[in-house]
Amino acid sequence: MRTLLWLAGLLHAQEVLAGVFGSPAPCHDEESCKVRLSTLTSKLDELRDEMRGKHLTLQALEEIRGGILSGRRVELPSAQRQHLERGSPMISEVTFDARHRPVSTNVTRHFQWQRVIAPELQVRQHAFLHLKKSPGSKSASALLVLLDSESKLSIYSLENEPLLDRFDLGHEGKIIQLELSPTQENHFVVTVGEDNGIRVHNIKIIAKKQKTDVKDGEKEEEKEKEKKDKDVRTLNVTASLATQFTLSHGELEETRKLNVVLPIERGSQTFFIAGDSLGGVSVFFRNGTMRGRVRVTEDPGGVKGLIRAQGQQQVLFYSSHAFGFFSPSQVDLQYPPCTGWNSPLYDLAMEPGYSTGRVLLALQDGDVLVYATTRGKSKACDLALKFPHVSVLPFNLHSFRGHVMALATPLPDMEKKDEYVREIFFFNMAAMENGYGSAPSRAITLQASFKPKQPETLAMLGQPAAGPGGAGEKAKSQVAIRFKEEKGVELYDLTLRTPPPPKAAADSSSSNGWDMSSLLNWFPKVGVFGIALVGVIFWNIKKVSGQSSGSPGPEMDDFDEELFKEKLRERRANQADLDRRTMPIEIEVSNACTAWRSAKLYPSKDEDIGGSLPRTLARFHAQHKAGQRRHSSVCLLEGL
Ligand SMILES: *[C@@H]1O[C@H](CO)[C@@H](O)[C@H](O)[C@H]1NC(C)=O
Ligand SMILES: *[C@@H]1O[C@H](CO)[C@@H](O)[C@H](O)[C@H]1NC(C)=O
Ligand SMILES: *[C@@H]1O[C@H](CO)[C@@H](O)[C@H](O)[C@H]1NC(C)=O
Repeated sequence: MRTLLWLAGLLHAQEVLAGVFGSPAPCHDEESCKVRLSTLTSKLDELRDEMRGKHLTLQALEEIRGGILSGRRVELPSAQRQHLERGSPMISEVTFDARHRPVSTNVTRHFQWQRVIAPELQVRQHAFLHLKKSPGSKSASALLVLLDSESKLSIYSLENEPLLDRFDLGHEGKIIQLELSPTQENHFVVTVGEDNGIRVHNIKIIAKKQKTDVKDGEKEEEKEKEKKDKDVRTLNVTASLATQFTLSHGELEETRKLNVVLPIERGSQTFFIAGDSLGGVSVFFRNGTMRGRVRVTEDPGGVKGLIRAQGQQQVLFYSSHAFGFFSPSQVDLQYPPCTGWNSPLYDLAMEPGYSTGRVLLALQDGDVLVYATTRGKSKACDLALKFPHVSVLPFNLHSFRGHVMALATPLPDMEKKDEYVREIFFFNMAAMENGYGSAPSRAITLQASFKPKQPETLAMLGQPAAGPGGAGEKAKSQVAIRFKEEKGVELYDLTLRTPPPPKAAADSSSSNGWDMSSLLNWFPKVGVFGIALVGVIFWNIKKVSGQSSGSPGPEMDDFDEELFKEKLRERRANQADLDRRTMPIEIEVSNACTAWRSAKLYPSKDEDIGGSLPRTLARFHAQHKAGQRRHSSVCLLEGL
């Protein structure tokens, strides 16, 4: 029925088209005809603009569809991508942010796979333990400390030799945190249990050259290790309990829960700093005696994290909406905490090249903010920079050679959290500092996807803070990544050049129009012409139907035109509104256009992905299956 109507419309259109461009037109003299023609032309221009908008929408849909089909990632303007990503985890997997497209996505180039360490172990937490460099030794001087799902401690060499096998740390219940000693001078691990207990174990590492004699009273188990190096050491690693203590209940019988603990070393003294759920920071001596406690925040959840700052003179603490510097020697805050963001804080790190004193804040909504804590010589709390928003997942932050290495990590209570692809982004601090010009930014040096594996946590070994040309540039960096639902951790060599420092005076010509203009550039010129033609037809159909429904006449005709114009303006306003707030992709695209996009939308067995698709795409899918097909020009007409 509808098809018939449309056909009729088309026939009319042809007649009227002939009328407009051919002989008898409803104008009386040359003057009025000219006016007539010019209004017609301007209307056509408006129409063309609107149709172009529609076309861009369709183009974006088509691009996404192409991406889904081919496995290639599509570039989407930032605003579109952010909007879509919120509803559908899949979008982040099949698209890039067009403006902040990563310079590289070549994982194999930058991550050289070495080996799996502890392949039989269900690892929960892992960290590198630095060893004192023995003279003449060139081998990487670190061990990997692993905590497994049964809260047992294992220590492996980076060659995957077990040195300590599933040592019981003696906590009742699960261990919620594991921290290592801050220096190479003496080795220990600090663990916090669900039971609110803190236990400190000394790690004794005795290295013996294979050819040296066995020491008195020590039986050396002969391990046959075939190494080209002459510098083969046998390590004997033992763990023993040094101290244990607990956070006492407050005077008012309030139940504080230990959230986080951090060992610091000052001179020959070791302190343990503990943050609790009631916003308190406590300082303990090495022997477990409490030195003092002070409440630093009122935020719900209390102290979430502690970081060493300024050569262990200070400790940086953070809660959901504040961070500040705490002095362990004075057991007090030195300045008021810094606040000023809305989404809760997820992770915090010092900027690479610590001297700047700037702090990186990863928020739960995926934003990363940079706060300056000094202004000249005085203390400050100034928002200095915001990273491009390229993920809806919050980031875990690490520093690496002028880069911030950020691992996208879903929150435990997030909807569809397992569907999000977890990638490691390397943000180039200097590029972000210089500002973005009109060209795609170089803010993201590398976006590393390990599909189908999902990285869960990572630990770094190397000189994270090395500046360009610094000593760390040549040193090997290694990263140990634990993947979701995989046993053990995987060790990679990590190579990435340190970017040049930021330009002092950045000649950043700010531009907002990049996204739009580049979209327009994609649009083929031929298409504009075709759409203009269809626009002529459409306009005439409107006119004809207006004439045939009511009494024909000049007034009626004018009225109809006014109405039409108004409709158009309204629609355009709505459209602009939509563009600004939401997405062109949510604009109604009518049934017939499924036919215009005549190619099949998805492989037929993909029906089950419908649920996670953006609504419009899903509807396309459904309608295509219903097999509706119409002529392409009709589709565009109706699409208006
Ligand atoms: C990634 O880098 C490696 C090593 O540089 C190179 O051999 C490979 O061709 C690159 N892959 C892609 C897809 O560019
Ligand atoms: C390691 O050293 C401890 C003493 O420090 C000793 O009891 C143990 O037997 C040694 N183990 C090995 C394998 O040498
Ligand atoms: C723990 O060490 C501190 C300082 O070193 C000392 O003042 C305190 O008395 C010690 N406590 C115990 C129980 O030994």
